[in-house]
Amino acid sequence: MSYTKNVLITGGAGFIGSHLARLMVNKYPTYRIINLDKLTYAGNLKNLEDLENAPNYVFVKADICDQKAISEVFTQYEISDVIHLAAESHVDRSIEGPMEFVMTNVVGTVNLLQQAKDNWKGDDHVFQHVSTDEVYGSLGAEGLFEEVTAYDPRSPYSSSKASSDHFVRAFHHTYGLPIKISNCSNNYGSHQFPEKLIPLMINNILQKKPLPIYGKGDNIRDWLWVEDHASAIETIFHGGRLGESYNVGGLNEWTNLDLVLYLCRLMDKKLNRSEGESEELITYVTDRAGHDMRYAIDATKLETELNWKPSLKFEEGLEKTVDWYLANEDWIQEVTSGSYRDYYEKMYQDR
Ligand code: NAD
Ligand code: TYD
Repeated sequence: MSYTKNVLITGGAGFIGSHLARLMVNKYPTYRIINLDKLTYAGNLKNLEDLENAPNYVFVKADICDQKAISEVFTQYEISDVIHLAAESHVDRSIEGPMEFVMTNVVGTVNLLQQAKDNWKGDDHVFQHVSTDEVYGSLGAEGLFEEVTAYDPRSPYSSSKASSDHFVRAFHHTYGLPIKISNCSNNYGSHQFPEKLIPLMINNILQKKPLPIYGKGDNIRDWLWVEDHASAIETIFHGGRLGESYNVGGLNEWTNLDLVLYLCRLMDKKLNRSEGESEELITYVTDRAGHDMRYAIDATKLETELNWKPSLKFEEGLEKTVDWYLANEDWIQEVTSGSYRDYYEKMYQDR
């Protein structure tokens, strides 16, 4: 079969990428989806089992920093478009070791940009870069991040993502590469690695382990259902204007403490535990170095220009998420065996 597009999704074995790959493979049978992933600790082929036999789906294990491998993929699969999600994505890990973040998030992105620039002629292509609201820095009590907000990244993670955003824009301005960027708030949903707040707390509540709240728990994040992020990426891919950035978010701000308290109550009910049982596991630990206070996104541009809206209320999404983790304890067990234990001890033992 000849496909109408050959779309390279990078990082498609991770949390957001696997949701996006599923959406694209199922919704666009005339596109061939080439999912390229290095399978780091965060990448898991189990997230993609249902796609393995789809005729329009190919998985390639490779590192986005590997020039030869990426060049071969562009040639072999006649890549027409890129949706780039591969990244080191966890702020705490970036504080422990920033260099891996520079390599994948900056060098890897520039390598992909080079390959796209060298392979593409004409206008019928899109290089879409999936980025974070953390590039804008940290908000006080008021205000929202807009597309025009000045970049002010403060963690090694957000600095590496800001740098990659700048390179993507530079390839547009300098070489005319057809790019699009999206900057999204915190995602939650199924298949998220339990190093991030929500799955870590779900796992610890299940195991009756301490629930480590950084600082006082008053930092604020804006949470979006992962499938709504995937639908935003798809919407921008098809309808977004070239050279533009779009903010993606849910106007759904929670302090970390309120969110964990809500999760405790929800899970006590689901697990038939007595009221207040899980709350007692809350433990205040040393704050994250340079901890950003508040993120909040203004997604008006995406909503008005492209008619995108989140589909789920947070309470519904959180319940679906908890139900998924409760139904997939083998998934949690698999990803938390081995190196996760070393990671957890290193991060939390003396905190
Ligand atoms: P994740 O950590 O779950 O997955 C990242 C994936 O990238 C993994 O499958 C990993 O194996 C792969 N990868 C890492 N290094 C690679 C390399 N050198 N070559 C090829 N593959 C590599 O991350 P996620 O939460 O799914 O985030 C995906 C993207 O979305 C990232 O770019 C992240 O910055 C961005 N983002 C995430 C959030 C969020 O809340 N999680 C919010 C906004 C934007
Ligand atoms: P995280 O999920 O790491 O996302 P990000 O830092 O990219 O926003 O963290 C979300 C919030 O939860 C952040 O304010 C840090 C806090 N947090 C804790 O209080 N305890 C934890 O164990 C973790 C992982 C995060």
